[in-house]
Order: sequence, then structure tokens, then C-alpha cells
Amino acid sequence: MGVGAVLVTRRRIARRVAALAERIAESFGDEEMTIVAVLTGVLVFLADLLRRLPTRIRVEVVSLSSYPGAAVQSRGPSFRLWPVGDLVGRHVLVLDDILDTGQTLACLLDRVRSLGAASVRTCVLLRKNCPRVERVEPDWVGFDVPDAFVVGYGLDHDGLYRNLPDIRVLEAQDDAGGAP
Ligand code: XMP
Repeated sequence: MGVGAVLVTRRRIARRVAALAERIAESFGDEEMTIVAVLTGVLVFLADLLRRLPTRIRVEVVSLSSYPGAAVQSRGPSFRLWPVGDLVGRHVLVLDDILDTGQTLACLLDRVRSLGAASVRTCVLLRKNCPRVERVEPDWVGFDVPDAFVVGYGLDHDGLYRNLPDIRVLEAQDDAGGAP
């Protein structure tokens, strides 16, 4: 596997993140926001979005994995870490990198609601054009993308490529090099 064509450039990402931050800030108004972010793919998106949000914000992180190791097919979400922070009465923004089968977001929404959040809104950077296992629609979406495995801007394959500034498609390749 190696990295292929650029799907979303760093400039488009920056513009879209700024626009998303405006919409999200507008929606939360004066409410204190608690972001529940899904590691690890959301790391760069979280950092960029966070610095553009003006409201009072707390950040909790959860760790979930659907693509362990070199997998490119979802194996379904499994929690590795859940935050201890109290969500009772909080206005939560669940932030994820990609909406794929919908299982991760559905699972998180259930969990956050069951912990007594006052409201839950959702934002994903990418929404894949593929059939959903769970019917969930995020409140905010960065980009609609084709059903291909993507890397860069925090997204990895087998732990690699998170540092690429653009979002790229992962491609099968003949040589064993794998370098971008
Ligand atoms: P589900 O299927 O639960 O999956 O909606 C969402 C999670 O799966 C990961 N995912 C990807 N990660 N490139 C990645 O690096 C991809 O193309 C990809 N598709 C899904 C992602 O972590 C997301 O939270």
C-alpha cells in the first residue's frame, strides 16, 4: 500500500475548518461546550478546529478502533479508552474524523446520551459515500468523499501517514517501498 492522489488539499481543509468553526460557534452561542473527540484520526482536525472556536470549551478524548493494524475494512468499533469527565448536563459536540458505516458515531451518541448530556451535536471531517450500517447523520460535515480508504491530516494506515498535510487516497502498489 502507498499514498496516491490528493483528494482534499490543505488549503481547502483550512477554509472548511474555518467555516465549520463559525457554524458550530453560532449553534452553541453562550453555552459551554464539551468536545468528545475520537482519537486518533481526529487529532489534527481537533487541534485546528479548537483554535477557531471562541466559546468556553472542555475537551474529552475517547479512543476507538475500527481498523486495527493494516486493515482497510471496518471490523466495527471497539473502545480502548473512555473519558472519566462528567457529562451530566453538558452540551456535547462529538467530533470524529470519518463517517463510514456509522457504527462509531451511533455507539458514541448512545454512550454520551446515557451519561446525561443536556444536548449532543456531531461533526465529522469526512463523510464517505457508502452504505451505512447505522442511520446517523452528523450536524456538520467537512467534505463528502468517495468510498476509498484515505490517509493524511491525522488519518493513518497501519499507523503511518498521519503527518501528511493533504488528505490522500491509499493505493495498492506493486513495489514494497510504500513511501509517499
Ligand atoms: P465507522 O464505520 O464506524 O468508522 O463509521 C468510522 C471510523 O473508522 C475509521 N475510518 C478510517 N480511517 N481512513 C482512516 O484512516 C479511512 O479511510 C477510514 N474509514 C474509516 C475512522 O477512524 C473513523 O472514526
